[in-house]
Amino acid sequence: MLILPGTMPDYHNPGKGYKMGPRVIALRASGRGGSIPLLHPEDLMIDNENIGLAKISDAIRIAEMSRELIESGLGWSWTPSRVAREINDKFTNVIVTREGNGIIGFAVMKYLDQEARLNLFGVHPDCRRKGIGTRMIIWLEETALINGNGIIYLETRLKNQSAREFYKSLGYKVVNRIPGYYRGRETAVQMAHDLWSDVALT
Ligand SMILES: CC(C)(COP(=O)(O)OP(=O)(O)OC[C@H]1O[C@@H](n2cnc3c(N)ncnc32)[C@H](O)[C@@H]1OP(=O)(O)O)[C@@H](O)C(=O)NCCC(=O)NCCS
Repeated sequence: MLILPGTMPDYHNPGKGYKMGPRVIALRASGRGGSIPLLHPEDLMIDNENIGLAKISDAIRIAEMSRELIESGLGWSWTPSRVAREINDKFTNVIVTREGNGIIGFAVMKYLDQEARLNLFGVHPDCRRKGIGTRMIIWLEETALINGNGIIYLETRLKNQSAREFYKSLGYKVVNRIPGYYRGRETAVQMAHDLWSDVALT
């Protein structure tokens, strides 16, 4: 069921409801899109309008970026067919940030009962430290709240200190270490952001 612009999410019935928020519907309706991997990073003007749901035609580029930016040295698990499955999955949002005809950021978030899981997240190296990652996280967290998901979990590679700094800057805390999480040979650091407690504090 989709939430319509102007209607309120049911926070007392978490997990039973909406996959997409108003902005997602608006972007879908606008038919915005394109999938050619060209970058114009020197002239970035990113706002939330550049963020939207990925199309099936984006799957190859997202998979390639995952292999290069996230999975290096691990083997390629986020293949184009896996990304395409996630794009088609009704409990998952695959989003991209576009600049011109290129993709400069991407994320995969799965919505479970009370929690959401950020399974993939990256920004093109030429476009980092410009707030693109932060905008995508805000977009995903807004959607999670509308969907009734109170907490977001994610895993990062132990050696990925910069990702941890990024997530910490957005309120995420380290909650666990999972040895062998990646292909049985690399430890994951699990982080979480309790969205409901943040809402309660404001
Ligand atoms: C981690 C990543 C997504 C950050 O994206 P980004 O668009 O550069 O992030 P932002 O510009 O929104 O950064 C927000 C804040 O996070 C922190 N941060 C981001 N990158 C950082 C880094 N390399 N080192 C330390 N802090 C960092 C800073 O506090 C930054 O604010 P500032 O630039 O004003 O100092 C990006 O570096 C990336 O794609 N890395 C490779 C893939 C990856 O590690 N993905 C996550 C794995 S789960």
